[in-house]
Amino acid sequence: MIVVAGATGNVGREVVRHVLEAGARVRALTRDPAKAAVPAGAEAVAGDLTDPASLAPALAGAEALFLLSGYAPEIFAEAEKAGVRRVVLMSGGSAETGDRTNAVARYMIDTEDALRASGLAWTMVRPRMFMTNAFQWSPQVKAGVVRAPWPDVPSAVIDPADIAAVAARALVSQGHEGRVYPVTGPEALRPGDRVRILGEVLGREIRYEAQPDDEARAEMLTQMPEQFVDAFFAFYSGGKLDEATVFPTVEDVTGRPPRTFADWARANVGRFQ
Ligand SMILES: NC(=O)c1ccc[n+]([C@@H]2O[C@H](COP(=O)([O-])OP(=O)(O)OC[C@H]3O[C@@H](n4cnc5c(N)ncnc54)[C@H](OP(=O)(O)O)[C@@H]3O)[C@@H](O)[C@H]2O)c1
Repeated sequence: MIVVAGATGNVGREVVRHVLEAGARVRALTRDPAKAAVPAGAEAVAGDLTDPASLAPALAGAEALFLLSGYAPEIFAEAEKAGVRRVVLMSGGSAETGDRTNAVARYMIDTEDALRASGLAWTMVRPRMFMTNAFQWSPQVKAGVVRAPWPDVPSAVIDPADIAAVAARALVSQGHEGRVYPVTGPEALRPGDRVRILGEVLGREIRYEAQPDDEARAEMLTQMPEQFVDAFFAFYSGGKLDEATVFPTVEDVTGRPPRTFADWARANVGRFQ
């Protein structure tokens, strides 16, 4: 039995699918099983990651857990008590920076450290920028002009399904314990490159406009706490995060190359029309 947290999210829902395909049983963790759409064959179970004791029924008798970063470290003690043997943790590239003054890096580093300090076997999966972040551009893509910040910052964006494929291997097979996996797509793309590719896939011209930092900052402050806005500005304006380096992890672990941004856009074209 494998427990997948974040099972209704971009990555977790694909982890559920991959683990089922590998023939294992899955409990899909969600705060609201009545609302959660989980694939046939998976069992939706209730649990709140901010309340570790609420996870006991989901974890009981499970062998492995897929977990997101940023939640209470007591989750690991709950998992050990329930008999879980290994955890595959999704953090992110910023965990590599070791910079606890950065609020995003801090929650990833803290969760990784708490897992390492537990008695559980672990695998760290550190994805770079998700291709699905481009869904935020959907209304602008429909209108034909995308304004987004950091025009000169390339990211080796990754399809969440490929992150999930790596995580699922670490959940259901041996040889991944104690490994740290940087997970990237096949090429580093600037925001303007991603917009151009979306236009090519949609068959119409979409213009990219570099959004000035002050305008981007004001917009982001309406969407997230200031410490996270500061964290992203440190990454992308301050150059504190390298997301451009391409790693061979997806192919090494799964045996097939990661999908390109064009592949991902073609599979999700309906979301931009
Ligand atoms: N976007 C990026 O570029 C990027 C890059 C690197 C790392 N990351 C990391 O990726 C993670 C997000 O992954 P995602 O995009 O797959 O998720 P998502 O689509 O944002 O969905 C969030 C998931 O977390 C679950 N969740 C939220 N709060 C919960 C709680 N209190 N208890 C239980 N479940 C809870 C939700 O489940 P329910 O609503 O069903 O309960 C949902 O399944 C973040 O930790 C982020 O730091 C993102």
